[in-house]
Amino acid sequence: MSETATLKIWRGADRNSGSWELHEVPFEPGQSVLDGLRWIRVHRDPTLAIRFSCINANACKECMMELDGETVYACTARLEPREMTLAPLANKKLVRDLVTEIAPPAERLAIKGS
Ligand code: FES
Repeated sequence: MSETATLKIWRGADRNSGSWELHEVPFEPGQSVLDGLRWIRVHRDPTLAIRFSCINANACKECMMELDGETVYACTARLEPREMTLAPLANKKLVRDLVTEIAPPAERLAIKGS
């Protein structure tokens, strides 16, 4: 029987009304947490909001989130065959699900009327 990782993922666009979802993900040694999240988007739920760019270089920092209460890069954090809790960064403005506003204010796109 193949092993699985259980990802407990925070979902929502409002910290006061979000909820937790559990997803079973096939586990293979060497995979990253980001690999697991991308698997969920392809095979289970394309609405899961995640952000990434460089995939595995720890260079863009787009994939920062909290794993079991610690800030990590999802692309370099290793997937493990256990329950792993993933949440948006607590100290950044929430966009949705695991995505927060991490760009410095001067680099954000200015949208008229917002
Ligand atoms: S995707 Fe670029 S640092 Fe993780």
